[in-house]
This record gives sequence, C-alpha cells and structure tokens, in this order.
Amino acid sequence: MDKIRVVGGVSLAGRVEISGAKNAALPAMAASLLTADTLHLENLPYVRDILTTCNLLRNIGIEAEVGEDGIGVFKASDVNSLQAPYELVKTMRASILVLGPLLARFRKATVSLPGGCAIGARPINLHLMGLERMGAQCDIVHGYVEASTSGLHGSYIMMDTVTVTGTENLMMAATLAEGETVLDNAACEPEIGDLAALLRGMGAQIEGDGTRTIRIHGVKKLHGCRHRIIPDRIEAGTFAIASAITRGDVEVANCNPRHLTAVLTQLSQIGAEISIGTDSFHVRGRDPISSKNVTTYPYPAFPTDMQAQYMALMTQGDGSALIAETIFENRFMHALELIRMGADITVEGRQALVKGGRPLSGARVLASDLRASASLILAGLVAKGETVVDRVYHLDRGYHHIEEKLARLGANIERIR
Ligand code: EPZ
Repeated sequence: MDKIRVVGGVSLAGRVEISGAKNAALPAMAASLLTADTLHLENLPYVRDILTTCNLLRNIGIEAEVGEDGIGVFKASDVNSLQAPYELVKTMRASILVLGPLLARFRKATVSLPGGCAIGARPINLHLMGLERMGAQCDIVHGYVEASTSGLHGSYIMMDTVTVTGTENLMMAATLAEGETVLDNAACEPEIGDLAALLRGMGAQIEGDGTRTIRIHGVKKLHGCRHRIIPDRIEAGTFAIASAITRGDVEVANCNPRHLTAVLTQLSQIGAEISIGTDSFHVRGRDPISSKNVTTYPYPAFPTDMQAQYMALMTQGDGSALIAETIFENRFMHALELIRMGADITVEGRQALVKGGRPLSGARVLASDLRASASLILAGLVAKGETVVDRVYHLDRGYHHIEEKLARLGANIERIR
C-alpha cells in the first residue's frame, strides 16, 4: 500500500492548478443513465472515485471512457443490468446516485445499500422517502434497495435534513417524472448547481437550484450534451490552508473563489493575506496564526469537507479554537493522529478544542478517510522531521497526485510505492 512521506519546514510558494470537482463529477456521470444519447464531460478529475464510477456504469452496460486528460464519454444506449452490486457500492457510497436515474428511465433498480462509513452512519432514508413520494416502491432486501415504479410522478418533497446526494438523486429522478416536483430544504452546494446546468443542457426543466427550493418540470425524454465540470472547491481550500499553515505564498488557480467564500473569510480572519481574482486567489500565510472557532454547516457556510484541514491549521494557532462538526457524527478521527504528532486536542462528541502554539513532530500516522488524510499531510508540512502517512488510498479517492502538486510548490514530499 502506498504511503506518503513528508519532511516539514518548507514555506510553500508558487502557483497550483485545481482539478475538476469530484463531488460534481460523480452525479454528472450518473446522469448519463437518463438518456440513450452520448454525454461528453470535460474537466473530470482523474481520481479513484471517478474510475470506480466508470466501472459501475460499465457494469450496468454503459459505454464509459474517462481519460487522464479529464475527458469522459458516456453512452447508455444498451443498458443490460439495472443493478449496482455490493462489491462496487461498498467502495464508494456515492454509487447510490444511480438509483434515481435508473428508476426514472427504466422504472426499476436494485442498488446495494451503502452501509456506514468512517465519518458517520450516513443513512439514505431521505433519498428513499423522496422516491416513494414520487410513486416508487422501495424495499430493503438482503442489503439491497429494490425499487420499482409504474412511472414516477411529480411531488412536493420536504427534506428535514439538507442532503447533497439526496437532492441530486431526486433532482435527476424528477427530470423524467410526470408533472412538477418541488424539493424543499434542498442542498445548494455549487455541485448541485453544476448538475442542474448539465441536466438543463440535456433538455431538463429545472429552476431554483442554488436556493433551498428547487422546481423540476418533468419531460418525456432527455438528450445528450457536452458539459464542463466545475473546479474542486475543496481541493482549492486544501491548498489555501497549505499556504497559510506553512506561512507560504501560493496562487491557487483554475478555481472559482466564490465557491469558497466561507473558507477564505475564515482564513483572512486568522491572519492570512488573501487576494481574490476571477478564477484564482492568492494566499500569503502570516505569523501569528490567530486561533478562531468554526462550526460546519451546509453551503454556503463553512464546509465539513474542510474541517479536518482547518483543525491541522489550528494546531499552529496562538490560542484555543473550538471546532464544531454539525454534519457528521464521527468526523474527528484525524484528531487522534494529530495528537500523535504532538497536538493538544480534546474531542467531546461533535466538538473539538484545539490548543495551539505547540510545535508538531513528525510521526507515522494512519489516514481514516479522504479529508483526514489531507489534514495529516498539512500537519506534516509544518512538523519537525519526517511524517509518513499510511493508507493513502483514501487520499487518492479525491485528490489527483496532491503530493506532486505540493512538491511543485517546494514541499519536501514523496509517495512511497
Ligand atoms: C456529500 O455527501 C459529499 N459527497 C460529502 O463529501 C460531503 O461531506 C457531504 O455531502 C456534506 O457536504 C458527495 O457529494 C459524493 P449528505 P452526502 O447527504 O450527500 C444525513 C468528501 O469528502 N442524511 O449531505 O452523502 C447524513 O447522515 C465527501 O468528498 C440523512 O440523515 O452527505 C449527514 O448527517 C465526504 N438521511 C447529513 O444528512 C439521508 O437520506 C448530510 O449528509 C441523507 C443524509
């Protein structure tokens, strides 16, 4: 299993290009199931979750190709299986995103239940509730969702919790449903807006994406189109923190700074110097790093996917910071590894108190999930000596060669194969 070795102490400097957004690419690839025509996607990040989704789609009978150049071509004209097997779903919960499109177009789907994950239980009850309100029958049989319908119809769906993939699944299903669907308390992450733009490009009628109320008028048929995936705001945020924590001077390019307002505002309040362009921003890390509390909430607030990276930064703060995680019930696994590097962190339920001002020392650490692994690498960039991060397969799920990008900014980092 690959590991990543980092030797701390270098202030990062230079320009980094951001890849396409994993969490926009996954639903976009699932949307290819909604038409028999060809779907062309550009700016796909060449990361493991994208390749897993490609396998899943091929398993269903789609012609699916994704290149390292970020170009993807998908054609669902000869679908021969309406099943997403446990073997594939267990490696990536976002596989659940094929449920809505399969049900909408083929009126039947058998999708393995994702099960729990390191960061929380992550049920899909709201996905199923919404599909049932649209006229589907969803049964859980032997660990699979067995769903069928004689044809989906529009409905008013209030989701009591904001769910990103839940909103995406129901939005896709509603595009081919009879009549109007209203999704209330919908997620409004930029990835939702990107999916809505793609679906409109395929002929769907959608309004209100980016707000808490989305209206979808069902149509008989969708067609193919060409769509460019938005940049990855979480990868961009990770590099912003890499510059702040190393007191660096980094330009983060090929991104959309407006998708990161909460993160960049927080970084400027802790003392980093931020200048914002149209499709790039600049972060100059400054001493001291002020400790500042943060609470994660759905977009546009501070994202949970940046919480672990922010915790690493707060270990270098000049006081104490309280980090509250409101989205997932078990998303502090990285704290235990940061403590092994010498950090002073106390976790209580969904809150973690980070006392800064203690130098970190390099250590062997274990990644538990995608963003936790990024946080350990960030800590390694400022730790004394060598840090070796194990289980980086977590990292490869959502970051494209992050160690090479960091090395180009001057980091002393390498992958140990
Ligand atoms: C998406 O996951 C992202 N994944 C996650 O990113 C991200 O952390 C999360 O949204 C929140 O922003 C993708 O887009 C592929 P949710 P998702 O449904 O959709 C509860 C990363 O690091 N809930 O918005 O699975 C749930 O338990 C990943 O890239 C229900 O109770 O998250 C959680 O507490 C990690 N019932 C909350 O809602 C449901 O039916 C938000 O989860 C659905 C969700």
